[in-house]
Amino acid sequence: MKAHARHIIIAAVALAIALLVAAVAARSADFSSYSGRQLYARFCANCHGQDGLGNGIVASSLKVLVPDLTRIARRQGGTFKEEAVRRIIDGRTTIPAHGLRAMPVWGIEFSAENLGKANPKATTDDMIARLTEYLRSIQRYTISAESHPTSRGRKPCTPR
Ligand code: HEC
Repeated sequence: MKAHARHIIIAAVALAIALLVAAVAARSADFSSYSGRQLYARFCANCHGQDGLGNGIVASSLKVLVPDLTRIARRQGGTFKEEAVRRIIDGRTTIPAHGLRAMPVWGIEFSAENLGKANPKATTDDMIARLTEYLRSIQRYTISAESHPTSRGRKPCTPR
């Protein structure tokens, strides 16, 4: 084989590999197929923290307190109100206590991500439902000293 032909083949193989790498990268950036946990790690952990405790890497530079997301149910009176949480995430519910919302409106952010998909609205709703389900799975409930069978009135651990 002539050197020239060999160079063309090498260039073609290199191009094929580059296209493959790009395709894999593009696929992994399709957040619509992420699980709730993966979506959380990608979009929420920076503020709310890896474990949802409100201590993400940018939390301290925000002017407002970033809430502990493992305590949503506790703040809502002991039950996890799924629809209410979904509405906070997608932006249908504003958080009036803070006046101005510090958190991005995920209904809009994800819709932008899903532009060009077959059904962007349903895809966005799905992602938010998965996130809500993930948040449900990380809730911590405190058992009060009185109701705990072995506590005999001792104080429970200080809730965070
Ligand atoms: C830029 C930082 C930031 C990011 C990123 C962020 N949040 Fe928030 N989040 C906040 C802040 C701050 C609040 C408190 C309300 C406010 O000021 O907007 C909040 C409030 C919430 C609440 C309400 C909690 C409660 O009990 O009142 C939920 C639920 C929530 N975030 C979920 C999420 C989810 C899910 C994601 C990822 C898709 C996310 N957040 C990403 C900053 C952030």
